[in-house]
Amino acid sequence: MNNTSNKLINWYSDHKRDLPWRHTDNPYIIWLSEIILQQTRVEQGRAYFEKFVDSYPRVQDLANAPLDEVLKLWQGLGYYSRARNLHFTANYVCNTFNGKFPSDYDTLLSLKGVGSYTAAAISSFSANEKQAVVDGNVFRVLARLFNDSTPINSTKGKKVFQQYANELLNPDKPGLHNQAIMEFGALQCTPVKPNCMYCPLQNECISFEQGTSLSLPVKEKKVKIKHRYFHYFIHTYKNKVALQQRIEKDIWAGLFEFHLIESSEALSEEKGLALLDTNNSNFTINNIGKPSKHILSHQHIHSQFYHIQWSKLPTSLPNSLEWYDVLAFEKLAIPRLIDRYLESSDSIFAEEDAI
Ligand code: ADE
Repeated sequence: MNNTSNKLINWYSDHKRDLPWRHTDNPYIIWLSEIILQQTRVEQGRAYFEKFVDSYPRVQDLANAPLDEVLKLWQGLGYYSRARNLHFTANYVCNTFNGKFPSDYDTLLSLKGVGSYTAAAISSFSANEKQAVVDGNVFRVLARLFNDSTPINSTKGKKVFQQYANELLNPDKPGLHNQAIMEFGALQCTPVKPNCMYCPLQNECISFEQGTSLSLPVKEKKVKIKHRYFHYFIHTYKNKVALQQRIEKDIWAGLFEFHLIESSEALSEEKGLALLDTNNSNFTINNIGKPSKHILSHQHIHSQFYHIQWSKLPTSLPNSLEWYDVLAFEKLAIPRLIDRYLESSDSIFAEEDAI
């Protein structure tokens, strides 16, 4: 593995960009650069870095600056909570560490806005601590080098790629190695059109051998979960229950269900019940179920059941509801959510009405 690291370091010494934060081992200055680079690309980041270092050469200068002034300098980068964290952390370092900016991984991790990547970067660049960095560029280099299609944004992926990075880290020159692998990802092993033809790691790169480089790294598509709020009214009259068949183009197409009213947000029991047209007084509310959540792959269904027992058959029913007797009901296909509810609750039919 050191062979690979040496090749990376040799490549780096020939190809590296001259970036201003590479001329220092001051952890405060490196921290400033890393926070700025979390927010923007290297080229734009350079100008902001220079503005911040000129205005606040020491952590005390940043801590003592008015927050408005810091926000003004940050203007154009967006995501202003990062600038607020920057100012907060400068004050925290002045108060907690007497103005000496930490350079060890564990202490760095305790700072607001500093995660495992940033702590590894600062501690290795400023103090040569043996901490391997894994940022977007490094994920790509490692996925290709080891030909690993584990999604990089999965829990397993984060662990597996951190292990690869640790194995590859050069224990004698961790800071230089980290700079080199990041730069290699940024300039050589690029997302599209990587320069595989003239790559010093051709012999080590399994994806080059297998022809899979361009399909790596793999990212898991994170689906956005939709929350839906279902209010089910179980209308019963003697041994009959009102049901409707679900329409197509939605979950559970073709299955049968009780009277459903969907709301766009969570509602209290009272508000849920108020969804029902209560002009008619020939019913009683027999029971109100416990709210529950049913998890589907892309949707979370929050449900609440209300038992509505009729003493007189109503003249009409809403939607496409129809009356079914209990024996017919038992033969119909119903969603698992309703099945579960029925299993966990008392019979929906009053004892004297059930047959
Ligand atoms: N992106 C984040 N940190 C960087 C660094 N130190 N050098 C180049 N690009 C970076």
